[in-house]
This record gives sequence, C-alpha cells and structure tokens, in this order.
Amino acid sequence: MANKKWKLGVLAPIALLGLITLNAYASTEQEQRFDPRNAAFEQAHPDQYQSWKATSESEQLEDALAEDPNMVILWAGYGFAKDYNKARGHFYAVEDLRETLRTGGPTDGESGPMPMACWSCKSPDVARLIDEEGEDGYFAGKWARLGAEVVNPIGCSDCHNTKSDKFKNGEPELALTRPYTERAFKAIGKPFEEQSRLDQQAGVCAQCHVEYYFDKNANNAVKFPWDMGTTVGEMEVYFDAIDFADWTHGVSKAPMLKAQHPGYETWRDGIHGKNNVVCVDCHMPKVENEDGTVYTDHKIGNPFDRFEDTCANCHTQSKDQLQNIVSTRKAQVLSMKLTAEKQIVAAHFEAKAAWDAGATEEEMKPILMDIRHAQWRWDYAIASHGVHMHAPEVALEVLGTAVDKAADARTKVIRLLAKKGITDPIQIPDISTKEKAQAVLGMDMEGMKAEKEHFLKTLVPQWDEEAKKREATY
Ligand code: HEC
Ligand code: HEC
Ligand code: HEC
Ligand code: HEC
Repeated sequence: MANKKWKLGVLAPIALLGLITLNAYASTEQEQRFDPRNAAFEQAHPDQYQSWKATSESEQLEDALAEDPNMVILWAGYGFAKDYNKARGHFYAVEDLRETLRTGGPTDGESGPMPMACWSCKSPDVARLIDEEGEDGYFAGKWARLGAEVVNPIGCSDCHNTKSDKFKNGEPELALTRPYTERAFKAIGKPFEEQSRLDQQAGVCAQCHVEYYFDKNANNAVKFPWDMGTTVGEMEVYFDAIDFADWTHGVSKAPMLKAQHPGYETWRDGIHGKNNVVCVDCHMPKVENEDGTVYTDHKIGNPFDRFEDTCANCHTQSKDQLQNIVSTRKAQVLSMKLTAEKQIVAAHFEAKAAWDAGATEEEMKPILMDIRHAQWRWDYAIASHGVHMHAPEVALEVLGTAVDKAADARTKVIRLLAKKGITDPIQIPDISTKEKAQAVLGMDMEGMKAEKEHFLKTLVPQWDEEAKKREATY
C-alpha cells in the first residue's frame, strides 16, 4: 500500500501504467480460475461435452442395503447403515450426496454430521476451492459449510488442467486436481508428472476410485493409506500402526475400518492392470464423430455398452462370450461375499453376547481385532465396484482371508463364551430385510428421513440460489 502511494505521488504516469498492468493481471488471474461449470466448455469441446453430459443417462438408483441387509449389521453405528446406493452416472454425484441419509439434515453451515472431506470426490468445485483457499481452507469445518460452493457434478476440471492453453486448444492436459492424490503417488514412488500417458489416464480416476480415509489429526483431510503399499495387507498394517478406526461397531464394539472404493488398487493387481490396460481403454474409448474426427468418448459407463470400441479392440471373442465370463465371475464373487458376511455378522453378535456376559476389554481385544481385520478384507474386496471384472482373483483371495479371520474371531469368542458359562449358540435376530435389520439396531429411520426432507426443502434451494449469483460473475 505504502509503496503504491509513493508511486502515485511521485511518478503518477508510471503508476497509472502499473495500475493498468495490475488490472490486466487481475483479469487474467480471474480467467485462470479452474472453471467448475462443465457447460463452460461446451463450445470449445462439443464432442467431449456432449458425451460427458450423457453420463446423465445412467440414472437408475439401486439400493444396496435392500439387496443385502447383512450390510446394515456390518456397518452398525456408521453412516452406511442408514443408506447406501450403488454408483450411477458422474452427472449425479452432487445430487446423490445431498440426498443420501448419510449426510443428514444440516440446518446451517455448522451443523453436522459429515466433514467437508465428503465433497472431495464429487465436484470440480473442489479443485477450484483447493486452488483458491488451499487444502486447509477447503477441509476446515462441516460438510454444510460450503454447500453453496460445491454445486457442479464431476467434470472437466476434475481431470484436466482447464486453465492451460493446451487444453483450450483441444489437447488432453490431464491433471491431478487434488494435491492429496499427488502426495499419495509420490508415496508409492510414482509421481504423476513422471508417469506415462497411460498411467496418467488411470491416475485421474485414482483421484476418487481409491481407498482413502479422513485424517483426524489434520482437519479431517483426505489421505490415502498408501505409505506402506496398496495391497489389502499393507494398508491394514498401516491403519493398525497409526491406531486408526473409522468408527466403533454398534454391536460388537470392534474398532472398525471402512474401505471406500479401492478400485484403482484392485485394478492394478488384476490381469488388465498388470498388462497396462487402463481404465480409459475400457471406459473412455477413442471414437469418431459424424465428420470423422476422433475424440475421447466421455460417457463413462459400462464398457459392454460399446463393445466394438472397447473389448473388441484387443479381444477376438464375441461380446456374449466375454460377458458370460464376467457374469460367472460376478456370481462367484457374490457367493464368496455372502459366505464372508454370514461369518462376520455372527461374530459381531457373539462378541456382543460376550460383553453382555461380563467379558473384559482384555479378553475381548484379540477377538475384536480379528473382526476388524475380517471386515476390512471383506469390504476391500467388494467396495470397489466392478471388481469382478477388474480383478476377480484378487476379490476371491481377499474374501477367502476375510472368512479365515472371521473364523478365528468366532473360535475365540465361542471359547470365551463357554468360559462365561454360555454354551448355547447365540441367536441372530431377524435381519432378513433392510427395515428389519435397521429396527434391530434401533435406528430412527423416520426421524432421519424427516430431517433430510427439511434440509432438501430449505437449505438446498438457498445453496443453489447463492451459487447462481456467484457463478453469474464468472
Ligand atoms: C473423469 C476424467 C475426465 C473428465 C471428467 C473429463 N475428461 Fe476430458 N479427457 C479425459 C481423458 C482420460 C482423456 C484422454 C486423454 C488421452 O488421450 O491421453 C480426455 C481427453 C479430452 C480432450 C482431448 C481430446 C480428446 O477427445 O481426446 C478434451 C478436449 C477433453 N478431454 C475435454 C473435456 C471436457 C470439455 C470435459 C468436461 C465436459 C472433460 N474433458 C471431462 C478425462 C476426463
Ligand atoms: C472427482 C471424483 C471422480 C473421478 C475423477 C472419477 N470418478 Fe468415477 N465416480 C465417482 C463417483 C462419486 C461416482 C458415483 C456417482 C453417483 O453414484 O452419484 C462415480 C461413478 C463411476 C462409474 C459408474 C457409472 C455408472 O453409470 O454406473 C464408473 C464406471 C466410473 N465412475 C468410472 C470412472 C473412471 C473410468 C474414471 C477416470 C477416467 C473416473 N470414474 C473418474 C467419482 C469420480
Ligand atoms: C479391461 C477393461 C476395464 C478396465 C481396464 C477397467 N474397467 Fe471398470 N469396468 C469394466 C467393465 C466391463 C465393467 C462392468 C462389469 C459388469 O458389467 O458387471 C466395469 C465396471 C466398473 C465400475 C462399476 C460400475 C457400476 O455401475 O457398478 C467402476 C466404478 C469402474 N469399472 C471403474 C474403473 C476404474 C476406476 C478403472 C481403472 C482403475 C477401471 N474401471 C478399469 C471394464 C474395465
Ligand atoms: C487394450 C487392450 C485390452 C482391452 C481394451 C481389453 N482387454 Fe481384456 N485382456 C487384455 C490383455 C493384454 C489380457 C491378458 C492376456 C494374457 O495374459 O493372455 C486380457 C485378458 C482378459 C481376460 C482373461 C483374464 C483372465 O483372468 O483369465 C478377460 C476375461 C478379458 N481380458 C476381458 C475383457 C473385457 C470384457 C474387456 C472389455 C470390457 C477387455 N478385456 C478389454 C487386453 C485388453
């Protein structure tokens, strides 16, 4: 300031020039913002924009808990027991996060229950906010704090450096827009800027389709548990070493881990990952438009929907043949998943019975650790959607170890129960539907739904209104 005054006083003409340059600088600065609005790129890149927008065609919501009520019990005491839908098109990411019961019904910017980190894999506004406020600024506080700022669904500025001239001229300019992903790649010795083009194509997906946790010592910021490696065992060792738990189980009181969606990690260990066939080869093929221009199809969805441009590029088998292989593997993974669930659910209830019979913390500790490890492995194997395609052998092997760990837990807990004089088998309550399982846990679903309704009718329209005003100035 003082400096500026001095210039104005003594060298007014030069200062004026300076101000003009300053202004010009300010306006390029503004253009240099990561533009979070996907439609802002429609004119420059119509094929990519239109195909991106077509992710909205995958609109079906599938209730995973209704399909498999065991999961309500497995996630007892944690948000996922409230509701959990399978993934659908990127276009719906923000809408789905607002609507899930897991984010509750905030009434203002300070009310919970979730932290800001929850937005991280939903929107290019996150790239913008981290760019503007730094990670500390972005991660601080509760999820509802920046509800009016995070409004655009997963899009261009999540995977591209949309600020660069190269991108504007039609080159891909793939970029990691989440600094925590950059750090994670460094931790495994694969810095993004040194990666091959193929690796980078998988790398942009790894910003979200990965395992991560919220670091309680650092503003609940997102961190990938990759410091010791990316396999199920290496991440388990890491979590144990830092004594991390996502939550305490509502039935067994075990210190639990929630796997997110380690799709990148499991793909790496599968046959395609090992052969450097990357996400984009199957989910974003190169195609031709009517004028014969080749472009990348941005309609990320099921690769079987455009078999000729995906699998058939490398395989000679027919679509039916390959689809049969994949559905057989899906059935195998599902069956093993249910086997593991049956064992882990029983272990949770048996542990509860042991507590009720007066077991001590010390007696329970080895049992609870087995339960923790069993469920982590189960979750790691199935939480990455599409694992039956990407790495069925990894899923089956990991599920096998989950069954094993659950058996360890059950052997120990049954012995402990016997010591407490309980020799009859512990009865599992009726958890045959989602509603019954939630009732067993005493969850007030009606209350949660009412809170959510209120939030969607009051706060959300305010957020949208504010966002519209802000974006009108871009
Ligand atoms: C999920 C990540 C992702 C999102 C979201 C995304 N892109 Fe891309 N984009 C890619 C990948 C991967 C490529 C191919 C990179 C390569 O060929 O190395 C690509 C390529 C491109 C290219 C280069 C030309 C071409 O077609 O290969 C342009 C231009 C482009 N995208 C524009 C956009 C626009 C505009 C949006 C938003 C409407 C968008 N992208 C959203 C990942 C993404
Ligand atoms: C910014 C985070 C983010 C990035 C980057 C991202 N995804 Fe996603 N993806 C998600 C989320 C979140 C969903 C679930 C959206 C929903 O259900 O509302 C999803 C859903 C999907 C689905 C399911 C689509 C459907 O119609 O059922 C596929 C397939 C997918 N992503 C593949 C990819 C691939 C391949 C890449 C990289 C080219 C990628 N994603 C990059 C966050 C991301
Ligand atoms: C060799 C081809 C191939 C590669 C490589 C690949 N995928 Fe897939 N992916 C598929 C197929 C095929 C499906 C659907 C399987 C089915 O129909 O049951 C799928 C399913 C998915 C799903 C689940 C979609 C849903 O709605 O449930 C997600 C998410 C996904 N893939 C993300 C990724 C990511 C991220 C990568 C890279 C880390 C990747 N895929 C690599 C072929 C591939
Ligand atoms: C870019 C090339 C490429 C694409 C695209 C591709 N694959 Fe593959 N696929 C491979 C390679 C390489 C292997 C390993 C072959 C080997 O080792 O013999 C493989 C192996 C397989 C196998 C045998 C793996 C096993 O576990 O025995 C199946 C099944 C398969 N692919 C299905 C698919 C399906 C389905 C698609 C489309 C969704 C697809 N692939 C897309 C290159 C590709």
